[in-house]
Amino acid sequence: MKEIFPGIYKEEKELFTVNLIEGKKVYGEKLIKNSGKEFRQLDPTRSKLGAALQIGLKNNHLKAGSKVLYLGASTGTTVSHISDIVGHDGIIYAIEFAERVFRSLSRLAKDRENIAAILADARKPEEYAWIELCDVIFCDLAQPDEIDIAIRNAHEFLKQSGILMIAIKSQSIDIAKSPQQVYKEAAAKLKQNGFDVMEQIDLEPYQEKHAMIVCRKQLTSKEPDK
Ligand SMILES: C[S@@+](CC[C@H](N)C(=O)[O-])C[C@H]1O[C@@H](n2cnc3c(N)ncnc32)[C@H](O)[C@@H]1O
Repeated sequence: MKEIFPGIYKEEKELFTVNLIEGKKVYGEKLIKNSGKEFRQLDPTRSKLGAALQIGLKNNHLKAGSKVLYLGASTGTTVSHISDIVGHDGIIYAIEFAERVFRSLSRLAKDRENIAAILADARKPEEYAWIELCDVIFCDLAQPDEIDIAIRNAHEFLKQSGILMIAIKSQSIDIAKSPQQVYKEAAAKLKQNGFDVMEQIDLEPYQEKHAMIVCRKQLTSKEPDK
């Protein structure tokens, strides 16, 4: 097992995180024992974070102790791996508005004490204004206004110089434009709104017509009012 980022491992082209809750699978993933630890496979076809890492993402700032706001948590597939990475000293505020998938997310949060499952609309950050400032925001909403939602949340909840990772599904944003055009316009909007784009990575072949943009919130004179 080679550690490629804090808490993220690779062996024979497969990615793994160390299982925070030994013996428990979250979505049917493979578990393997190695050097006295249990590793869970991070499947790039099930997780956009997994796809980005598999393809060679260079800018990953998730680590033990990170505070993360996750927009579009669904049943918690990717959230569970971030929970492994940030460990007992970190926390994930996991936002999801669909009640059906939220039930599974709540069950996950019962097992893993570093996940706060929040049933809320990411377009209304005032619904979860109580959360603390975060080091990283991970956004995977598949909505036409996803970039605006991510920017608004980053202005409210991201620390200065914090990292915003956005998984973009081009067809959710504009089906009439080419994916490359959609990604270019998303990056331009982020730049106009106070973010330095660090990396843009196409997630094909693992996630069709998806890309991930990683950017850093520029320093301003003060932290968000919280
Ligand atoms: C592509 S799925 C996310 C998959 C998940 N990130 C993973 O890797 O396991 C998008 C999710 O975002 C949720 N979503 C979309 N718009 C939302 C909003 N405005 N507020 C909260 N959740 C939203 C959807 O219900 C859906 O579960």
